[in-house]
Parts: sequence; structure tokens; C-alpha cells
Amino acid sequence: MEHLRDLLRLPPEEAKLLPRGWQILGAVILVSIPDALKHHANAIGDALLAMYPRCSTVLWNRGVAGRFREPICEVIAGMSGTETTHKENGCYFRLDASRIMFSQGNLAERMRLSEMCDGEVVLDMFAGIGYFSIQIAVHSHPKKVIAIELNQAAYHYLRENIRINRVEEVVLPVHGDCAIKSPENVADRVIMGYLDVTHEQLVSGLCAARSGGIIHYHEGTPEALRYQRPIRRIKDAAHECGRSVDIIGQRTVKKYAPGVVHVVVDVKIYDE
Ligand SMILES: C[S@@+](CC[C@H](N)C(=O)[O-])C[C@H]1O[C@@H](n2cnc3c(N)ncnc32)[C@H](O)[C@@H]1O
Repeated sequence: MEHLRDLLRLPPEEAKLLPRGWQILGAVILVSIPDALKHHANAIGDALLAMYPRCSTVLWNRGVAGRFREPICEVIAGMSGTETTHKENGCYFRLDASRIMFSQGNLAERMRLSEMCDGEVVLDMFAGIGYFSIQIAVHSHPKKVIAIELNQAAYHYLRENIRINRVEEVVLPVHGDCAIKSPENVADRVIMGYLDVTHEQLVSGLCAARSGGIIHYHEGTPEALRYQRPIRRIKDAAHECGRSVDIIGQRTVKKYAPGVVHVVVDVKIYDE
């Protein structure tokens, strides 16, 4: 495969700023471009399409924003739109890449969970387009997966993805706020896969788990407080709702922002 640098032939001081990586979601390429190269954005997009003939659109990725973690981006090459089907871990994910993020850094965590839910009732509190729920339904044999999503656009694709992966019998999509829609005392496993204000929903997560159930709690944590802050928050929430907890696992998923890491803490819940 040709290199971006060879296709674009920019002066050396610009060539060294060219992106070295990008994300491919189905037929859409997402690339971050430094501001110093913004006048070359369309040329970079065209060069990427030349490198990946099966792709049809390039988005300039400027990050994600807001409570729904929506991408900030613009089309810089291609005319085929931004809706696509991405395949991961044997599952299909229909999404509009300009409206829905898909974090590849979480792949290992999704694969890990997808195989450990046999016979369980699983609650996916921040389901998005079904990143966890679909993979669990396809690769384990859960009794039920309850997938709650607040954003209307993501909920639309969640339903679509349940259909195209043929897991309608297993995954129940719920549109709304998990603080209100989470059931109580039923889940063998609760996934809290959100980073911004996940701790605000900890009490709902703890109440949703049955005694002996497990919560996978995700948090964007300052590096210096890597496991300390999430564990303190879990213990405070458990105290508030009269449950006791055992910390049974902790992992760093990825670097999230300068000085901030994405961590997961696994917790077993008991009635006091
Ligand atoms: C981006 S996804 C998480 C990504 C996923 N865990 C992964 O593996 O990449 C987080 C989702 O939580 C949803 N969300 C945020 N607050 C919510 C709430 N209170 N109730 C339900 N869904 C919520 C957002 O709309 C978003 O779709």
C-alpha cells in the first residue's frame, strides 16, 4: 500500500505533520488532521480513498462532545454519505459515523465480556448502538440482555443492529435514561460503559444487580487516582444504597486524554 506521504508530496515541514493512523468504520475513514494542514484536508481525504478503494467517505475527526459522546467531524472526501456497516468480533454494526462514535480502544473489553454471560440477565446501562449487548447476545447464551440508550439516533441503530444480528429474542432495547429505566434487583451482570459522569448512575447500577451480581464500572480517571477514585465512588454509592461490595478486578482500557485514563473496575455486589 502506498503511503500518504508518497501520494501527497508535500514539503518536508508539512509532510512530517501528516497523520500516521486513522480509523476505518465500514466504508468510512475517520482521520485527525492538525490545523496546520487544514488547507490540505480534501487532498488528504482523496489520498486515503485512493489507498482504501473499498472505502467511500472520509471524515475529518475533531473529537467527540457532549453527553451523547457525538463525533465532531466533517466530510472531506467521497460522496456516498456517512451511514455504513462496521463488522467487529463477528457482529455487524450499522451506524452513521458522523453522528455515532465507535471506540476501537474498547475492543478487548467488549470481546472479554462477550464470552462470559451464559445464562445471565445482563443490564447494559449505556448501550449506544449495542457495542456490548449485541456481542454478548451473539457469543454467549444470556437469558436476557436489557440495553438502555438515551440518544434517539443511537437507539435507532441499536434496534437496527439487534435486527441485523438476529438477536431480537434476547436483547430488549429500551429508550430512555438509565437512571429511570434500570430495573431493580434482577441483573446478574451490569455494564456501566460510559466515561463522563458514570458515577452519577452508580446507585442505579448497584440497585439493578441482584445479590451476587457483578458490575463492570467504567470511568475516565486522572492517572494519579487510577483505581483509587473509582473504588471510592463505588464504596460510597454502596453505602448509600445499603449494599456491600467486593472489588474483584481492575483494568486500564486506554489513555483517554492527557493525564486521564479509561479504567474498568469489576465489583461483586451483596445484600448487607
Ligand atoms: C458512547 S457509548 C459507550 C461506548 C461503549 N461502551 C464502547 O464499548 O465503545 C455511551 C452511550 O451512553 C449513552 N448515554 C449517556 N447517558 C445516558 C443515560 N443517562 N442513560 C442511557 N444512555 C446514556 C450515550 O448516548 C452513548 O450512546
